[in-house]
Amino acid sequence: MTVLVTGGAGYIGSHAALALLDGGRNVVVLDNLSQGHRWAVPAGAAFVEGDCGDYDLVRRVIAEHEVTAIMHFAGSIIVPDSVIYPLEYYYNNTVNSRALAQAAVDSGIRHFIFSSTAGVYGEPETTPILEDFALKPISPYGTSKMMTEKMLADAAIAHDLRYVALRYFNVAGADPAGRSGQTSRKATHLIKIASQAATGVRPKMAIYGEDYETPDGTCIRDYIHVTDLANAHVLALEYLEKGGESDVMNCGYGRGFSVREVIDAVKQVSGVDFTVDLAERRAGDPAALIAGADRIRQKLGWKPVHDDLTAIVRHALDWEESLKGREVSAA
Ligand code: UFG
Repeated sequence: MTVLVTGGAGYIGSHAALALLDGGRNVVVLDNLSQGHRWAVPAGAAFVEGDCGDYDLVRRVIAEHEVTAIMHFAGSIIVPDSVIYPLEYYYNNTVNSRALAQAAVDSGIRHFIFSSTAGVYGEPETTPILEDFALKPISPYGTSKMMTEKMLADAAIAHDLRYVALRYFNVAGADPAGRSGQTSRKATHLIKIASQAATGVRPKMAIYGEDYETPDGTCIRDYIHVTDLANAHVLALEYLEKGGESDVMNCGYGRGFSVREVIDAVKQVSGVDFTVDLAERRAGDPAALIAGADRIRQKLGWKPVHDDLTAIVRHALDWEESLKGREVSAA
């Protein structure tokens, strides 16, 4: 009984692998190391270097490790890049997921947890965002994830496969015990960027737009601690194992903070008054994205324990300090 974690050398996948191992499960990580790092794979997990779209390899890994469930994190996640390289995003996120799903079905895997995104909603007219809102992604990234959700839904009807797609809002922070964190070579996420500014990894940062229709003019997001998110995956797997139906669930806390509030928190927790410039709006940024977060609590019994911006920032900062001297470029 082993869980195959694709992308387990990356940010969220490594935390999910930790949560599975902490819960006494066996884990095999499959990662091509295009973004992740070999050292980020948690101790105790088996590791196979390769592509989740490599059908024959996935079949072999499933057979050799007696895999009974898959958590699929591998993918490309930078929204602006997806606009520049759409076909790469459809390949990495959609085509490779199709091959993985095929290998899963052909190997008799019945439980599949998929790493999806709030990006599938696009720019909703109202917030909080509920799971049954229309899916209108505005980037190839969001569309590539939406297409995979649809494939899984159809495959679950046709085959003996059930899945949960978790639609993440803004994932941040790091393992409180310091075992993992965000190591992406190309950082774009606000709390990561601000943590890098606070720890001197980058000289300064910018706020992308202060003229949104929000109380302080900056965008509002629902920041969720990566460890709570990782635990949601374990609960989703237990839910399927107990016979739960396939479903999609938002992963957020149901509250938001503005970009300014986040930057103030990073300055306060770090004690560093780093330079913050004002820049133009970033294309495609909706003013406010907050999860309607009831479904996951009701269906999975998920009880977040790190819903605290100060703790999220503290863990992100600690991780950023611990990265110094390691093999991660801060591009
Ligand atoms: N921001 C800045 N300066 C920075 C970085 C970000 O002002 O240096 C702002 C952005 O403009 C945005 C907010 O901080 O208003 C959050 O930006 P992130 O890049 O951290 O995250 P996004 O909201 O753009 O996107 C993330 C994921 C998506 C997911 C989305 C859902 O990358 O996959 O959250 O909320 F869909």
